[in-house]
Amino acid sequence: KPRKHLKIMISGAPASGKGTQCELITSKYDLVHIAAGDLLRAEIAAGSENGKRAKEYMEKGQLVPDEIVVMMVKDRLSQPDSAEKGWLLDGYPRSSSQATALQAFGFKPDLFILLEVPEEILVDRVVGRRLDPVTGRIYHLTYSPPENEEIAARLTQRFDDTEEKVKLRLQTHNQNVESVLSLFEDITVKVDGSLSKEVVFAKIDSALSNLIEQNILGMAAT
Ligand code: AP5
Repeated sequence: KPRKHLKIMISGAPASGKGTQCELITSKYDLVHIAAGDLLRAEIAAGSENGKRAKEYMEKGQLVPDEIVVMMVKDRLSQPDSAEKGWLLDGYPRSSSQATALQAFGFKPDLFILLEVPEEILVDRVVGRRLDPVTGRIYHLTYSPPENEEIAARLTQRFDDTEEKVKLRLQTHNQNVESVLSLFEDITVKVDGSLSKEVVFAKIDSALSNLIEQNILGMAAT
């Protein structure tokens, strides 16, 4: 069956559920998940110069400069698996300059998903978030607790997941979100991210299946 590969961007405030939805999306649609924050944390873990510089900004909840982020994302999108399977870009672009830079390299999304979550919920999500360093899975002490004691014992917390830091991250998000949204208005789907992760995924899933159907119809017509 002919099927154009999906190219998706997902955006939303800190802890709005981007990573959680990306886990669910990739397990069903087999897209390459590219998370700007994960790429940056990998640079930090590797001890690179870019990683050192990036961490200074991440600790203040500010955007890492374009000269680091843009090429990093572009390089990952340029790898063969992204072209073969399609991609799911998480946490990028966060400014109009990041959006236009990507467009200039020829990467254009089919759909822009925005997760909308009230601010008072976000702090609670950040503070309770835990990560499994073995599987990379995202947990929450209350909303998505680990399946067993073994996993519970090895969970870690991100260095920027404190109440104080999430407020700074949120401020940065609020300053930039409108300028990015205005560039993708015609392909944006807004989803209420305050619902359970299963309900949020059902809405995203239906937007993605619609998109695939349109692509197949479009290809049949040509
Ligand atoms: P990044 O790593 O992208 O962090 P973020 O945007 O703050 O988003 P998070 O990863 O915190 O949250 P999420 O939306 O993925 O939520 P999750 O699914 O984990 O960026 C970190 C930093 O890197 C930035 O501050 C910046 O400095 C830098 N950076 C990154 N990209 C950049 C760029 N493009 N340019 C410049 N700088 C950049 O969920 C959160 C918690 O809630 C989890 O515990 C989860 O289990 C729980 N949860 C999720 N969904 C639900 C639900 N529906 N109901 C209940 N609980 C839920």
